[in-house]
Amino acid sequence: MNTIQVQLGERSYPIHVKSGLLKDVPDLLTETNHGQKWIIITQHGLMELFGFELMSNLKEKNFNTDYITLPVGEAAKSMKEFSNVISQLTELGCDRSTTVLALGGGVVGDIAGFAASTFMRGIGYLQIPTTLLAMVDSSIGGKTGINIAEGKNMVGAFYQPKGVLIDPDILKSLPKGEVIAGLGEVIKYGAIRDADFLKEISGWLDDIVSFPFEKAIKRASEIKAEIVSKDERESGLRRLLNFGHTIGHALEAHLGYGRIRHGEAVALGMKCAGWISERLDLLSKEDVNQLNTTINKLPLPEIEHVDGVHLMPFIKTDKKSEKGILNFVVLEGLGKAAISTNVSEKLIQQSLKVLN
Ligand SMILES: NC(=O)c1ccc[n+]([C@@H]2O[C@H](COP(=O)([O-])OP(=O)(O)OC[C@H]3O[C@@H](n4cnc5c(N)ncnc54)[C@H](O)[C@@H]3O)[C@@H](O)[C@H]2O)c1
Ligand SMILES: [Zn+2]
Repeated sequence: MNTIQVQLGERSYPIHVKSGLLKDVPDLLTETNHGQKWIIITQHGLMELFGFELMSNLKEKNFNTDYITLPVGEAAKSMKEFSNVISQLTELGCDRSTTVLALGGGVVGDIAGFAASTFMRGIGYLQIPTTLLAMVDSSIGGKTGINIAEGKNMVGAFYQPKGVLIDPDILKSLPKGEVIAGLGEVIKYGAIRDADFLKEISGWLDDIVSFPFEKAIKRASEIKAEIVSKDERESGLRRLLNFGHTIGHALEAHLGYGRIRHGEAVALGMKCAGWISERLDLLSKEDVNQLNTTINKLPLPEIEHVDGVHLMPFIKTDKKSEKGILNFVVLEGLGKAAISTNVSEKLIQQSLKVLN
């Protein structure tokens, strides 16, 4: 088993990555089972796919286990569902010793983590991510939260899990589009932190059917762990994880959520950010080509022509714009991301041409 440590003093925790890990969960957690309640928070379909088996394995090893399901989709990250989860935790007789197991993608992880952060002023939880995006990104680093009408992830907390348990075999049932979107984020890690990894990913993408998920997840989660260990609350280094996200988020918002997956929008955003980095003389032509060649190996959705003017309002409201200054993530070489405050609106608008 590969174990990576998120180093945050007394809030440190392990990330375990291993094919077939799901069946080992009771053994991995047995030391921390003191007779408390264990609540699996998941979605109905995931309960059918993995949850019932996990619950019966836990019960067999004397874990007092129950479960709560959430609806599918971004809409589940709502005040209403949050409040439902809290009520159900109470009805199930949970107390301060209860441990939550968040079994699902980023939606489940975000709301389950937030519920854990607030129920009785905070109870323990573990992440068991089931999408590629959740495995390499949302399950690590303790960002939890829900959406309100005024914006996404507007209510939340930094609240670290006690552990992250990743079983790449779980991805076998994940719809292909979700896998591709997750690969967008995997490419991001190579681009911002590890040029050799980027090259490796590029090679692996030539035969996507035999893509070595376990290897890729291990390296990507290692990079995420390293970054959040150094900057838990996104005051510096962690911002580099937003590579491709300023334009990516704006594309998601402009095209309409549900029209393009987050990871797909990020992949397109990285192409624009690569072009901008070259224009600022930070990145060589060869490096931009290598980045684009890798991204182009993903079967991304065709998008209609985007007029930069329409995108700008979304760029400006993006949270990476602080005190009116846009913190834009550029590359100063492959594997070497940096923040630039010199990226003009005009440059952003011009960069959109690489999408068509
Ligand atoms: N907390 C963070 O740091 C962070 C980082 C990035 C994204 N996010 C959040 O993550 C969310 C997106 O997460 P996501 O992309 O994982 O989407 P998701 O959680 O909505 O999952 C996508 C779909 O796949 C299904 N699914 C999940 N695992 C499956 C499996 N193994 N087999 C079959 N179906 C499966 C789900 O039921 C769902 O319908 C967004 O809300 C975003 O804000 C959070
Ligand atoms: Zn992302």
